[in-house]
Amino acid sequence: MTAPANLPVPVWRDELEHEYAALAERLEPLVPCLEIPLHLPWIDAINKLKKQRGAVIMAHSYQSPEIFHGVADITGDSLGLAQAAASCDADLIVLCGVHFMAETAKILAPHKTVLIPDREAGCSLASSITAADVRALRAQHPGAPVVSYANTSAAVKAESDAICTSANAVQVVEAMGAPKVIFLPDEFLGRHIAKQTQVEIVLWHGRCEVHERFTAQEVRHVREQFGTKVVAHPECSPEVLAEADFVGSTTAMGKWLAREKPARVAMVTECSMADNLKSQFPQTEFIKPCNLCPHMQRITLQNIYASLRDLRHAIEIPDDVSARARAALERMLAIGRRESV
Ligand code: 13P
Ligand code: SF4
Repeated sequence: MTAPANLPVPVWRDELEHEYAALAERLEPLVPCLEIPLHLPWIDAINKLKKQRGAVIMAHSYQSPEIFHGVADITGDSLGLAQAAASCDADLIVLCGVHFMAETAKILAPHKTVLIPDREAGCSLASSITAADVRALRAQHPGAPVVSYANTSAAVKAESDAICTSANAVQVVEAMGAPKVIFLPDEFLGRHIAKQTQVEIVLWHGRCEVHERFTAQEVRHVREQFGTKVVAHPECSPEVLAEADFVGSTTAMGKWLAREKPARVAMVTECSMADNLKSQFPQTEFIKPCNLCPHMQRITLQNIYASLRDLRHAIEIPDDVSARARAALERMLAIGRRESV
């Protein structure tokens, strides 16, 4: 695969207004209007280059609306993207999300080229624990299986018995068939799981820097001021979760909205996620206590274009790490997603 040489920087052409009228209408309530004509040339160039390359663009639900609606072929939560990477036909995947998501795609599709547009797109949970920490935990709790959240590095996954996401965490923990499970690295998600199972959960002290910022007082204030339903991601603190009408994974939140059809909802989660759901639920008013993930925001139309143009940054994982991490991930994929979420 050779990179097309000297591709010009995409610029506005009048035809774009007609070609992308439907997309522009979709983006209008989600991004400042003035930005749409700035985005369209990049969206057009990416879509053309993507076709030329035979690439698939996958975007996590926390990606900005112009990426999520404008260039992604596959969108979803981290479990959905992992499942898509394992089954997709394309040889080239551009993963618009954070580094652990691109690593997961590469582990599940080792013969494909997986690109991340900015390799500094990290995650406070993934960086809270190392493979050596996992080995030390095992030594402290002999015989207890390790279930790691998908928000971990490939090296940590390789030290784990199984991986889970917030969409199937309780199921995966219980599938270990053990009285005690080491769950890492998200302390708050671990506490949330512990409330739903008899299995003893050994916790690690990782936190999501986006979700830990929400406070119970803030949630109560939003509810009182706007008379709204509240849904929250389980990476929030137990005090915040206690204030919510519904607690669930990224996908579960969408399913809850489809089921309950609330007139108003406060999404106690990452900000772009509410934007991306808005167009699916036009009858619902979204109140956004807005916390953006700075790592997700590192992905832009410009670096997606450069990634496709120059085939950068390719994810590489040592074979032995990849093989062990794959076994842990495949255990999760065999369990799948809980029906209700
Ligand atoms: P999901 O597993 O729900 O996609 O969430 C990933 C994440 O990073 C949440 O902050
Ligand atoms: Fe990591 Fe939190 Fe960002 Fe998700 S929102 S990628 S858990 S820092």
